[in-house]
Amino acid sequence: MQTPTDKEARTDVQTDARKDSDKDLRKAGTFDRHRDGHDNRSATVIVLSNHKGGVTKTTSTANLGAMLAEAGQRTLIVDCDPQANLSEAFGWTEEIPGERLEDLLARPEASTRFQPAAALRPDVGVNVEWRERLRIIPCTDALADVAADLPHLGGAGHELRLRQVIDAQRPHFDIVLLDTPPGLGTLSGMAMLAADQLLIPALAADLDVRGAGKLYDLVEAEVPGLRIIGVLIAASERRWRVTRDAAARMDADDMRVLPVHVPRAVRVASAPRYRAPTAVLEPDSMISHAYRQLAAHILEEIAR
Ligand SMILES: Nc1ncnc2c1ncn2[C@@H]1O[C@H](COP(=O)(O)OP(=O)(O)O)[C@@H](O)[C@H]1O
Ligand SMILES: [Mg+2]
Repeated sequence: MQTPTDKEARTDVQTDARKDSDKDLRKAGTFDRHRDGHDNRSATVIVLSNHKGGVTKTTSTANLGAMLAEAGQRTLIVDCDPQANLSEAFGWTEEIPGERLEDLLARPEASTRFQPAAALRPDVGVNVEWRERLRIIPCTDALADVAADLPHLGGAGHELRLRQVIDAQRPHFDIVLLDTPPGLGTLSGMAMLAADQLLIPALAADLDVRGAGKLYDLVEAEVPGLRIIGVLIAASERRWRVTRDAAARMDADDMRVLPVHVPRAVRVASAPRYRAPTAVLEPDSMISHAYRQLAAHILEEIAR
C-alpha cells in the first residue's frame, strides 16, 4: 500500500474537516488559496456578498457590470446563486441552449474553451454601444445540485473548482463580478476563494450594520487574501436618518462605507421583465448615475 505524502495526508485531514461542516465558510477559508497561480491574470475578480438576501447583491452586480462595460471595461458577470436571479434579469431562461455555470463546475477542464456570451440577449438593447463588452456566465437552479455533489465528485480541493473556472476567464476580461446566494454556504465560500476583492451591498438598517460587521470580521480572520472594498449602501436615501445612522455606525466600527449611495426607486423591481438592468433601460436615471459613480470609484481603487 502506498504511504500518503505529507501533503496528501494534510489534504485528507482538511477534506475530512470540511465534510463535518461543509456549509461553513470558515473551513473553506482555511484552505490554501494557491495565490501564486494568479501571476498571469489580467482581470480583477470582485465578489458581491452578504449573508442576507434582499440587499441588492444581484441588482448591483447587473448595474455595476453594465456601467463598467460602459466605462470601457471588458466585464464578466457570473451568476453563482441557484435562484438564477441574475440570469433571469438578462433573460437567460433555462430553455436557452448553452453551457451554464453548473456545467463548467462539473467539468472545469471545459472552462478553458468556454467563451461567455454577451449578457444582453440579441434582441435587447441592440443599440447599446458596450453590449459586446458585458458577458455573462448564467446558471439555472441545477447549480444547487452540482454544488451539493461537488464534495463527492470533486474530492480534495473541490472548493477551488469555481476558482479554476474563473481563472480560465481572467486573461479575457478586465473585471469579473460574482453574484452570490444569501448565506455563507458552499457557493458563497467558493466565490470568496475565487475572488480578489469583496463588495458588501447592504441596506441602511440596524441589522444590516451588524451583519456587515460580522462579515468583515469573518473575512479578515478566515479569508485574509480577500481585500474588502467596502460597504455599498443601496436602495436608501442619503437624506433618511436611518441611512446616515447606518453609515455613521459602520464608520465607527472601522468599516469602509463607499461614498456612493444607490437611491431607492420602485421601478428597479420591474427591470427583469424587460431582460435588462436599469442601467440599460434608463441610462440617465438616478440609479444609473449612482452605479456609474460606483464603477468610477471601483476603477480608481483598482488602479491604486
Ligand atoms: N435601488 C433600489 N430601489 C428599489 N428597489 C431595489 C433597488 N435595488 C434592488 N431593489 C429590489 O430589491 C429586491 C432585492 O434586490 P436583489 O438585488 O434581488 O437583492 P439580493 O440579490 O441581495 O437578494 C429586488 O426586488 C430588487 O428589485
Ligand atoms: Mg440575489
